[in-house]
Amino acid sequence: MATVQLNNVCKSYGDRQTVHDINLTIEDREFMVMVGPSGCGKSTTLRMIAGLEEITSGQLLIDGKDVTDAEPQKRDIAMVFQSYALYPHMTAYRNMAFGLLKTTKLSKAEIDARIREAAEILSITDLLDRRPKELSGGERQRVAIGRALVRQPKVFLFDEPLSNLDAKLRNRMRGELKRLHSELGLTVIYVTHDQIEAMTLGTRVAMMSKGHLQQVGAPMDIYMKPTNTFVATFIGSPEMALIPCRADAGRLGHGAFTQDLSLSASLPRDVLIGLRPEEVTLSPTGMARARVERCELIGAEALVEVSLGADRMVVKSPVLGAPAAGEEVGLDFDLDRMRVFDRDTGRALHIGA
Ligand SMILES: Nc1ncnc2c1ncn2[C@@H]1O[C@H](COP(=O)(O)OP(=O)(O)OP(=O)(O)O)[C@@H](O)[C@H]1O
Ligand SMILES: [Mg+2]
Repeated sequence: MATVQLNNVCKSYGDRQTVHDINLTIEDREFMVMVGPSGCGKSTTLRMIAGLEEITSGQLLIDGKDVTDAEPQKRDIAMVFQSYALYPHMTAYRNMAFGLLKTTKLSKAEIDARIREAAEILSITDLLDRRPKELSGGERQRVAIGRALVRQPKVFLFDEPLSNLDAKLRNRMRGELKRLHSELGLTVIYVTHDQIEAMTLGTRVAMMSKGHLQQVGAPMDIYMKPTNTFVATFIGSPEMALIPCRADAGRLGHGAFTQDLSLSASLPRDVLIGLRPEEVTLSPTGMARARVERCELIGAEALVEVSLGADRMVVKSPVLGAPAAGEEVGLDFDLDRMRVFDRDTGRALHIGA
């Protein structure tokens, strides 16, 4: 069993608060991804969990035990860093053995067995005699993960472990991390600013912005039902269109369309409607009139950027029959999926079906 619970965790450097009241529980065997833009406090939060950074206020529990002030070694956690942080003068084998020799009473034979097993899982058995400078980025990354695995900690923390790898290798390592997680039943907290990593790796995703937790949920829940415009536009590419409308007596008005709505929520006058590219279709009889600004063929489909007056949105279209720039088109909105946000606060008032 391994659960991690953060209760009102805050961090201040001097009088500047960078992490605000984080309340989050990571369940046993969960793959929790913390995602958000640069500087939002992801690494700081992870380092507080690891014990590398003091918790200014709040409480951290691991398996129900209060470890808020415990030394890092007492937390039974292993962290993998973006920079890998391998010892340059040691072989991969020594890098993996070193921590165990220092901090456990395991015999040489037991340590050897753990290293061989981890190396097998990570396909680095043939590389164990090499030093970091004789390894590729992806291989170094695997040694760093191996060094965490051999410790058999309760919880694995990853801070942007794939960001130094090229796109293809990153993709492959994502698959391997996912496999390791499910085969070994690991409990993982994984930090990234990459929304694709968050969507593909996480069993749940915790979205952060400016030191605040914005939303926690399964990736598709966050994608479909964002609780505010920040989450709505951070996740998804091309991003969700937010079109300003006026709400009046159950009717949405915009220069390019009007639409009756039957929502249970009562709406303020100024709202934004949120639609993802796949929730809008080109149709000659569509409810909204728009003009094609740009059409990008990206292989299997086309991304069509259209303008509705001063507003823009991206629509997906089959490549065959995709419209050209300058054409007038009709658009149909998937009204069941459409979200409505408060224009002033960005808060979701209605989050679709
Ligand atoms: N030791 C420190 N002293 C003062 N401020 C710090 C310190 N470490 C981090 N910060 C500030 O805290 C905020 C959060 O930093 P953090 O490293 O947690 O961001 P992050 O979300 O991991 O960003 P990135 O995606 O760029 O790694 C930033 O504004 C940063 O400048
Ligand atoms: Mg960081």
